[in-house]
Amino acid sequence: MESLGGLLPRTEMIRELHAADVESLRRLLSTVPEATQWSADDFLLASQRNFFVRVAEEERKVCGLVAFRMMADEAEILNLAVDSRVRRRGMGSRLIEDAMAALKAAGIKKIFLEVRESNEAARSFYARMGFTEARRRRDYYREPAEDAFVLVRTVE
Ligand SMILES: CC(C)(COP(=O)(O)OP(=O)(O)OC[C@H]1O[C@@H](n2cnc3c(N)ncnc32)[C@H](O)[C@@H]1OP(=O)(O)O)[C@@H](O)C(=O)NCCC(=O)NCCS
Repeated sequence: MESLGGLLPRTEMIRELHAADVESLRRLLSTVPEATQWSADDFLLASQRNFFVRVAEEERKVCGLVAFRMMADEAEILNLAVDSRVRRRGMGSRLIEDAMAALKAAGIKKIFLEVRESNEAARSFYARMGFTEARRRRDYYREPAEDAFVLVRTVE
């Protein structure tokens, strides 16, 4: 739907991954250096690896994703990205809330992730989403080498 100069509400949804999204998501990730770069094959293998990928769409255009996996009663966020053109409008928060609802329904108690020390935007974002810094992992990342913070949040 066209927004007609803002007269009509934006159409927005968070939904499961479709095979037709892969190329758009790969292109989106290529513009987000802080995200983990997945190839088309990585996306196609995600379901076999028991990863869950949720896609944000606005005006029928893919503009974000979150990926996570569940292990017993814990989950890990593997990837998160929002198109830079639509940031600071709550899309990242809605992706995390959507994931949280799925995790809660699946009986997950705790969710964690790693983030680069220098990624202050993501660290502020996750702090706002209720994550706390559990520990530092020295030299966790390569190219460039950098420490990671492990962030944790209980699922309520
Ligand atoms: C992190 C990211 C997903 C946030 O997406 P977003 O849609 O802009 O997030 P929201 O609009 O829901 O932001 C919610 C709150 O998080 C915090 N926040 C988000 N971006 C921030 C930034 N750049 N600087 C400081 N705080 C920020 C703010 O408190 C914000 O609320 P506000 O806008 O009312 O101040 C997005 O910046 C992104 O894709 N970054 C690159 C990829 C990345 O770093 N992924 C994580 C790797 S671990």
